[in-house]
Amino acid sequence: MTDVRIGKSQVYASTLGLGANAVGGHNLYPDLSEEVGKEVIRTALNNGITLLDTAYSYGNGRSEELIGEVLQEAAFDRSRVILATKAAHDSQQPGKFNNSPKFLQQAVEHALQRLQTDYIDIFYIHFPDEMTPKNEAVAALQQLKEAGKIRAIGVSNFSLEQLKEANQDGYVDIVEDRFSLIHREHENDLFPYLKENKISFVPYYPLDSGLLTGKYDKETQFAPSDLRSKNPDFKGARFKAIITKVNQLEPIARDYDATIAQLVLAWYLKHPQIDVVIPGAKRPDQVAANAKAVDLQLTVEDFGKIDQLFK
Ligand SMILES: NC(=O)c1ccc[n+]([C@@H]2O[C@H](COP(=O)([O-])OP(=O)(O)OC[C@H]3O[C@@H](n4cnc5c(N)ncnc54)[C@H](OP(=O)(O)O)[C@@H]3O)[C@@H](O)[C@H]2O)c1
Repeated sequence: MTDVRIGKSQVYASTLGLGANAVGGHNLYPDLSEEVGKEVIRTALNNGITLLDTAYSYGNGRSEELIGEVLQEAAFDRSRVILATKAAHDSQQPGKFNNSPKFLQQAVEHALQRLQTDYIDIFYIHFPDEMTPKNEAVAALQQLKEAGKIRAIGVSNFSLEQLKEANQDGYVDIVEDRFSLIHREHENDLFPYLKENKISFVPYYPLDSGLLTGKYDKETQFAPSDLRSKNPDFKGARFKAIITKVNQLEPIARDYDATIAQLVLAWYLKHPQIDVVIPGAKRPDQVAANAKAVDLQLTVEDFGKIDQLFK
């Protein structure tokens, strides 16, 4: 798998990573098996994926702990893995975000313990808080970088204005935000700034929680306990319109002997403003299938066709 440089840092990550919010993320998906979650991680690493994207908020640290346990196994070499984690959820003030320098310093220390490592490759401020000047929060991360505790600085869920404030000193290496074929607003706001400032971009929800895999039809219903039942993309006319478009990907995918999910992931991999894609997975077979997207060489013509279909 090809590696990509993260911003101006010395971190080089596989262009296809693993989104690990379904590994130990019991608060998001209550029925998860931790053993399956660990197997998801092993499958990613065994298929050439080096970047693992986790966060404190995925199971209140449990996702990080399970990743840390897998990395202790003899089969894996910590130095070949790129660990990305995030923090901002303040367990002392439930429902509030905290970006204060003190909070971020402690969050990094606690994440290091859960991950059983002495450095984090990419550390993101998961969400902006209401009180900390963004450049002061990032300056605290820069100090942690200089101390060797983290290797690259990221922010997530920041507006363009918040990002500009955060990057006043040029310290931000990577931005993680919602973006997919059906959520493309950032092409107009964030992307020009990221390009100008050599900041990497990683989209989250690249498969729109499974909707862009082609496995649903217009009649599919989701149980009230399933997060998707509350997602507007999975409701009414919008859901049906998206399904119609996704179905049009089928013949293109067939030409490549690929699945729709692989085709969609290959589209991101070819997008000039996207550096890394982190599809999530609840099963090892999904990870193994998604990893094969890196072998799909999408033509410029097909990239354009998919681009127009979802414009
Ligand atoms: N920074 C942030 O605030 C933020 C927010 C959200 C997510 N993230 C990160 O982004 C990552 C990706 O987001 P996500 O995992 O929520 O959504 P996603 O990547 O859009 O969708 C992942 C889901 O799609 C289904 N799936 C995956 N591969 C498949 C395949 N080959 N065939 C069929 N179904 C497949 C699985 O769910 P089912 O099996 O249930 O269908 C899987 O859990 C997360 O894991 C997390 O690391 C970050």
